[in-house]
Amino acid sequence: MYYIGVDLGTSAVKLLLMEADGSIKNIVSKEYPLSFPNPGWSEQKPEDWWNAVVAGIKELTDGFEKDKVAGISFGGQMHGLVILDSEDNVIRPAILWNDGRTTKETNYLNNVIGKDKLSQYTANIAFAGFTTPKILWVKENEPENFKKIAKIMLPKDYIAYKMTGVHSCDYSDASGMLLMDVKNKCWSKEMMEICDVKEEQLPKLYESFEVTGNLTESAAAELGLTTNCKIAAGAGDNAAAAVGTGTVGDGGCNISLGTSGTIFISSKEFGVDKFNALHSFAHADGNYHLMGCMLSAASCNKWWMDEIIGTKDYPAEQKPITDDKLGENNVYYLPYLMGERSPHNNPDARALFIGMSMDTTRADMTQAVLEGVAFAIRDSFEVAGDLGINITETKICGGGAKSPLWRKIVANVLNIKVNIIESEEGPGLGGAMLAAVACGEYASVEEAAAKIVKVIDSVEPDATLAEKYDKKYAKFKQIYPTVKDLYDTLKA
Ligand code: XUL
Repeated sequence: MYYIGVDLGTSAVKLLLMEADGSIKNIVSKEYPLSFPNPGWSEQKPEDWWNAVVAGIKELTDGFEKDKVAGISFGGQMHGLVILDSEDNVIRPAILWNDGRTTKETNYLNNVIGKDKLSQYTANIAFAGFTTPKILWVKENEPENFKKIAKIMLPKDYIAYKMTGVHSCDYSDASGMLLMDVKNKCWSKEMMEICDVKEEQLPKLYESFEVTGNLTESAAAELGLTTNCKIAAGAGDNAAAAVGTGTVGDGGCNISLGTSGTIFISSKEFGVDKFNALHSFAHADGNYHLMGCMLSAASCNKWWMDEIIGTKDYPAEQKPITDDKLGENNVYYLPYLMGERSPHNNPDARALFIGMSMDTTRADMTQAVLEGVAFAIRDSFEVAGDLGINITETKICGGGAKSPLWRKIVANVLNIKVNIIESEEGPGLGGAMLAAVACGEYASVEEAAAKIVKVIDSVEPDATLAEKYDKKYAKFKQIYPTVKDLYDTLKA
């Protein structure tokens, strides 16, 4: 039997066809537009996602026996606000995870409702990209749209709804809405009151590996599949990526270098970050995790390469960055192109380069971008350390993980071993694995991970280089507090 993983990303949907034993049979990617209607805003049309999924699944399964596709599941970009009216029509474009328009609402939640209460109700505080501040923004700025809301959904759940006709959501993704009581895995009555929403406006909650329905006749016809195909609830993309890299159970770590950058720490126990920097969310394996999220990671490199240098040949730009250059760069880069989430929680922060001189080369700037992202991941890694979590090794996934240079920089900036998985298709593979578990191929997500995920290589940190990067990180850490107050003045 075959299982499809749908990785509903920010720049494209990636679809992966997996056989029951975990072997990957095909991968297809379909891009869609991302719009920035105002500085710091970020939106997409849910209809574009669906059209891309339909075209992508047809291409993915072309040449394969369609009635052997037994299950589909998801890893979806998190936190995005999708609102439907009573006819299930999309009311307005989705407001995405990296949208920073809700400074006022986030401040209201954290300072007027109060971080303690939010943490007590949901295990988290408010961050601009989370769903609840966006609901409050729509209520305040688009009251006509707010009145029309019959269902509030997350991005991947809109796709699941188009497939099954069921309004579903899983615990891992729902954790990032700031509407769910993460510890008890149910919608929070207090948060619903704060948002002025009723439980019937929210989707039904499931474990990520639970079946929510079968393809409806119309969806099966549109996708070229059969109504025997089951849909599993799926997960937020980071939890799905963690499944795809085998970061399940207790004490695993995964770093994702995608559009966003995340450090994900799996745990059997529910726990809250007392510093409120890391998110405390449910995991797709039925347990919990802590996560630090940077809003711009591989997207910094993409921006630098595509928009600024004007090239698509990333390996050629990285070639001059030879081993002797590592730890020696005097240029620093703050990777806050869309503001920053963990640990600064500042949607108005912006990127900067500092330290250039007349002898600075283009390669130094490229290196600074890669290093700046690694240093920003270290910011969250340090918070985990302060909580007493000792991470000695990690998996890595996402587009940025394809670069051996970037992997080496991450290993040495964090001074930990970085394990490389056979497939870096984290959320897509994780989604397909969740579908396989839901359809009974494996007894649990942990069993599927143990049987499917293979570490094929690893990067060990070098003691001398790690020490050099330690000193560089100490300097990097001073930049944000020094420029922080300027961001308000510079605000567009
Ligand atoms: C996690 C987050 C991002 C998105 C990217 O909290 O906001 O990683 O899920 O798709």
